[in-house]
Amino acid sequence: MIAWLLACSGADGGPARPSGHDPAEHDTGDTGHGHGADGPRPELGFPPELQDLDPAEGRVRVELEAGLATHRVEGVDYAGYAYNGATPGPTLRARVGDTVVVDFRNALDAETTVHWHGVAAPNAMDGATWVQAPIPPLQDYTYELPLDRPGTSWYHPHVDVDHQVDLGLYGVLVVEDPSEPPVDRDLVLVFDTWGEVQVTDDHGLTNPDDQVWTVNGLVDPILRATGGERLRVRLVNASITSYLDLPAPGRLLATDQGLAAAGSTPERLVLAPGDRAELEWLVGDTGWELVTEPYTAAGGATWGHTRRLLSVEVESPAPAPDPADWPFSGAPPSVDPGWTDLTYVFSGGVDGESWLINGEAWPDITLETLALGVEAIVEVRNLSATEHPFHQHGNTFEVLSLDGVAPASRTVEDTYNVPIRSTARLRLVPDNPGDWMVHCHLLQHEEGGMMTVLRVE
Ligand code: C2O
Ligand code: CU
Repeated sequence: MIAWLLACSGADGGPARPSGHDPAEHDTGDTGHGHGADGPRPELGFPPELQDLDPAEGRVRVELEAGLATHRVEGVDYAGYAYNGATPGPTLRARVGDTVVVDFRNALDAETTVHWHGVAAPNAMDGATWVQAPIPPLQDYTYELPLDRPGTSWYHPHVDVDHQVDLGLYGVLVVEDPSEPPVDRDLVLVFDTWGEVQVTDDHGLTNPDDQVWTVNGLVDPILRATGGERLRVRLVNASITSYLDLPAPGRLLATDQGLAAAGSTPERLVLAPGDRAELEWLVGDTGWELVTEPYTAAGGATWGHTRRLLSVEVESPAPAPDPADWPFSGAPPSVDPGWTDLTYVFSGGVDGESWLINGEAWPDITLETLALGVEAIVEVRNLSATEHPFHQHGNTFEVLSLDGVAPASRTVEDTYNVPIRSTARLRLVPDNPGDWMVHCHLLQHEEGGMMTVLRVE
């Protein structure tokens, strides 16, 4: 959450700074976030799981309400929003093949919708205002989602998106595949940023040292683990503007769209706003820290300091278990056929200008069309002065290459960061008909015009 959006900003209307939060305290991973003086570090907690109210097999019925809430981070109260009273909102857990029915109530003081980011929802259930009238305050709406792909997705509004997500409206949607190996614990870690951000008019530049990261709403928590434990950890970057750059994060099992084609242990893992990843953590004798390196949309790695996100502390040390035998497909990347069916050029944002896709700002857009079930190659070129996480609703895409370099194995995503002056080539075989939003997931860019619609028919 960014303080400049909040009613409780400083008396002069300027940004509020969390008390006792001095950037100098962020020098090392050891000092935490000013907690030394304020008391012990918090124990990591997890969002509650939504209760299935439908006894029928294969049907999950849950209740979700968006309402007003106050968020306390480092002793500062932020007036915001929450799903079912908490940020992150409750985790919706289901199995592949289930249909989820969400009885949603809008108890906000504003219109809203719920979008299921990463889910192949039927078009009318997608929550985008192109396909659904916004839900007025005190109205109900029922979403029905057949879940046909396993993985880690999330949900958030699609009205006034940058403010509503920033104010605390987001939660995780886990679709389990029972054929995957069991683990001792399956954990959800949702990351967000709070506090002052130096935002220029065009949001071109942010100082990462001025932000406080939270993990499941907590600053610098401790995750207690038991020696010998195997953890599956699902990471969601719910920040509207901030990137995570995680050195040696562990074994990477999955990106946006379910299991990767091959397991890997990357030297670093960058999660742009909207991105997800799944990791396998094997707990042995000693704990470790999960840190993030400074990274901004202004061009990636930048000035600033390494920040600790959480520490893992081991109780009852024991030898680490072996990695599980995950059913990676081993598929290589598809071959780039060389043609291009559709090009998206991301530009704009200079001197207060709108953020643009193909020279157009939402809602004055040209609707592009792709044929259902037919392979299409989409090229995304970033000609602007900031990075952009390219996001597409409803259908997934395979990454063929970034600046001519193919990934090591087949990589299927719904959100993919395109650095400055870079070109991504993506392969779609759209199987979900409808009108789907395509936008930047830096949500101020999206609200600033960087959104369009892709029709699949
Ligand atoms: Cu999470 Cu339209 O986005
Ligand atoms: Cu952008």
